[in-house]
Amino acid sequence: MTTVKLKEHRPTIAAGASPYRHISLITSFIFGLVVSSSFFLWQTNKYDPTWATMHYRPSPHLSPRLLTRQFESFPEYRNESSHSLTSSSILDGLRVLVTIASFDFMQLSHLEEVLDGFQDLCYAGSKVDVVIYTTVLYPVALIDMLNDRMRCNNPSPNAGLTMTLMLKPNSVRLHLVDFHRELFYDRIDQYDVFVYTEDDIRITPKTVAAYLHETNRVASILGPTRATDFNVGIIRYEYDFPENVVMTDKTRHASVNVTRVYWEHLGRPIFEKTVKKVEDDALSPYYVSMRHPHQGMYIVTPALLKSWKDRPKCRFNEIRNRPSRPDNPSQPTEGTQRVWMSSQMMYGKRHCGIIQLLPVENFGQLAVLHLPNKNYRRIGKQGRLGGSDNAPKNEFSNGTEVFKPSHPDLLKELELHVELKRQFPHLRKSNIRGKESRYTGIRMVDTDINLHNMAPNHRKKCEKAMEAYKMYVDRGGYMIDSDMNITDIDDWRTSSSL
Ligand SMILES: *[C@@H]1O[C@H](CO)[C@@H](O)[C@H](O)[C@H]1NC(C)=O
Ligand SMILES: *[C@@H]1O[C@H](CO)[C@@H](O)[C@H](O)[C@H]1NC(C)=O
Ligand SMILES: *[C@@H]1O[C@H](CO)[C@@H](O)[C@H](O)[C@H]1NC(C)=O
Ligand SMILES: *[C@@H]1O[C@H](CO)[C@@H](O)[C@H](O)[C@H]1NC(C)=O
Repeated sequence: MTTVKLKEHRPTIAAGASPYRHISLITSFIFGLVVSSSFFLWQTNKYDPTWATMHYRPSPHLSPRLLTRQFESFPEYRNESSHSLTSSSILDGLRVLVTIASFDFMQLSHLEEVLDGFQDLCYAGSKVDVVIYTTVLYPVALIDMLNDRMRCNNPSPNAGLTMTLMLKPNSVRLHLVDFHRELFYDRIDQYDVFVYTEDDIRITPKTVAAYLHETNRVASILGPTRATDFNVGIIRYEYDFPENVVMTDKTRHASVNVTRVYWEHLGRPIFEKTVKKVEDDALSPYYVSMRHPHQGMYIVTPALLKSWKDRPKCRFNEIRNRPSRPDNPSQPTEGTQRVWMSSQMMYGKRHCGIIQLLPVENFGQLAVLHLPNKNYRRIGKQGRLGGSDNAPKNEFSNGTEVFKPSHPDLLKELELHVELKRQFPHLRKSNIRGKESRYTGIRMVDTDINLHNMAPNHRKKCEKAMEAYKMYVDRGGYMIDSDMNITDIDDWRTSSSL
């Protein structure tokens, strides 16, 4: 099985690759981007009949610059009386482009929670387009289940949710994290807010609203030009369940001391080693930065993206490789490609040099849950944060572990979904809308997959899965017997990536 663990901090991407191989990988990758983005934008894809219904088209009922409107309603920092004059929620009609890097099905359970957060954003009034970059084909039954679960029935004409799976070949490896950047700049005038995230960070409407609230506040303090030196950041937390206990009915009292921990941020005294005051007279009374800038995600506005394009040493629009040791390019000097694309390029002093801002008063509102809730267990292990040379080793699995599956009687969501659809065959219209009865469910878009390079068996399976999806869309987004004929409900989870 050719899966790459997207979550490792270890320098997986170029390990063992010669510099030459590495460069050619990047070149072909960038070429692929050019090709794919033109496909992507011009809706020529045969598996994507509904691309034109995406929300990014200018929508007449929205004021063109929502953020501008909100800046205007904040003439001065914390003018409460003027704030209360804003008639609608800060999230109402907000056009949000969300991009998620999700390599394969390994973290699907986390991705599902992540998607729920963005569906909540639609129910909170925003118009959300979610684009997931992945290297696995989602089977029709899973898509059909997600279509039902993710449908946003908010009647507001300013709210909406679309989801697109952008298929990539697994040869992109950790460079899966790069693709969002070109999309952001291609669509820069079509959204009010952009979100990039890995597939295991829970972002909620609160996160986006808090980001906007603080971003508006910073702009009102500094003015729009100086504000581009800063970006409101996020901080990831986990819950520190005891090291040696699995929570069961018998051990449930062990959760009594469990609390949120910012596991990436060690060091006392806190205000010397972990948290920095902001070196700006106007902002320092209200904001701090973390010394360790990794976020695994970021939120940004079009105004900031535009300004960072031309910012000296920044070139935020240019996808490029993370800095590496000149004598050994497979070794990163400032973090892996995923750390680079989510955080280091933006905050690194030698790069964009943007200052991260976390609000003292609203601090917890920009904290996001790292869903695997496991990284805090690394702290103090050899070669990890807070770990000395004599510290215990951080054990990785070697493939010999035997996992006991959960009880077979547990009713799985997909199993129930398929059974519901069998029992209610007349409900076939839920994924179509409009006079032309167009399919409005999840799109799976194949831009640059080359099935011809695959081993015959794998290729046959992929072609079958793509064909099944195409038929599903063509008939209007409901399953037929062959889609529901599932002998092993979890079989697809271990299918190889593209
Ligand atoms: C606050 O906003 C109100 C309404 O826009 C305005 O009349 C008032 O002058 C503002 N107060 C300050 C201190 O700017
Ligand atoms: C919770 O913390 C208290 C105080 O440190 C300690 O005495 C107690 O044993 C802890 N309980 C558990 C279940 O860990
Ligand atoms: C895998 O790890 C287990 C426990 O961590 C160890 O007992 C076993 O010898 C290892 N097997 C191999 C093949 O390395
Ligand atoms: C269901 O799948 C099995 C094996 O996957 C196959 O043999 C059988 O013909 C299928 N039945 C239908 C109705 O598609």
